[in-house]
Amino acid sequence: MFRSNDIIAAILACAFGAAAFAQQSSAPPAPSAPPAPLMPITLVGDAERGAVIGQTCTGCHGIPGYFNANPAYHVPKLGGQNADYLEIALQGYRRGTRGHETMQAQASSLSDQDIADVAAYFESFDGEAERGRTRASAEQIEAGRAKATTCVACHGPEGVAAAPQWPNLAGQHETYLLEALEQYKDGGRVDMVMNPLAAPLDEQSIEELAAFYAAQPHLHNTEP
Ligand code: HEC
Ligand code: HEC
Repeated sequence: MFRSNDIIAAILACAFGAAAFAQQSSAPPAPSAPPAPLMPITLVGDAERGAVIGQTCTGCHGIPGYFNANPAYHVPKLGGQNADYLEIALQGYRRGTRGHETMQAQASSLSDQDIADVAAYFESFDGEAERGRTRASAEQIEAGRAKATTCVACHGPEGVAAAPQWPNLAGQHETYLLEALEQYKDGGRVDMVMNPLAAPLDEQSIEELAAFYAAQPHLHNTEP
């Protein structure tokens, strides 16, 4: 008797367990749940087709020194950025987990193939490695280099990423890097990797890190 009771108890536990599981998986995710990480698109990008789509983008991304209004920061450079990262960024805007109204509107009209094509285009955009705009002193830049030891594993020793799904930071505009780091710190931009890395950074460290990466040559403008 003892044994069959045990078996019944085990069956009941399984049944309840399964019911609880079923309920859990059909429930909508909690509002605070972080968005699922995005993967690069598996379609092969066609840079020539991407050049046609990219014409609408260069109106902002192709004007050197063009500013986003309120908050004011330079529109990020895309020339020489990794295609896999560009695909992840565009999918984030398209599904709305990466905020910025204009970019969400731009990305929402793009299919997966469009995203692969336009990413291939900007990655291969012909241009010379540039430095980003920065008014930082040599001391600030070196202080940033010293603080970047926790960033090297992914963004490389001089801001050229170790894997294509991570962004190149070298040569990006300083004001954009500042804005990105502040957004990761205050949670305005959600990313499982970057949020905890930015959280402990103070204002001075953020400024020095942005200055360091902006001062390294790599990304470049995409003037049409
Ligand atoms: C009206 C100006 C404007 C237009 C047009 C525009 N962008 Fe953007 N884009 C921005 C701004 C501003 C940001 C920075 C937004 C933010 O802070 O997330 C941005 C960010 C991006 C990023 C993220 C860069 C990074 O380093 O994370 C990508 C990728 C991008 N845009 C691609 C495109 C593509 C592709 C198009 C054309 C289909 C396009 N953009 C059209 C203004 C524009
Ligand atoms: C474990 C890998 C990893 C490490 C370490 C890391 N990052 Fe990142 N970083 C990422 C990834 C992944 C993204 C893109 C996240 C997203 O989609 O928003 C990113 C994005 C960024 C961006 C935004 C770039 C853009 O174009 O929008 C900045 C700025 C940045 N990281 C700075 C840093 C700094 C500074 C450190 C060191 C304190 C650091 N990261 C450490 C993986 C890493």
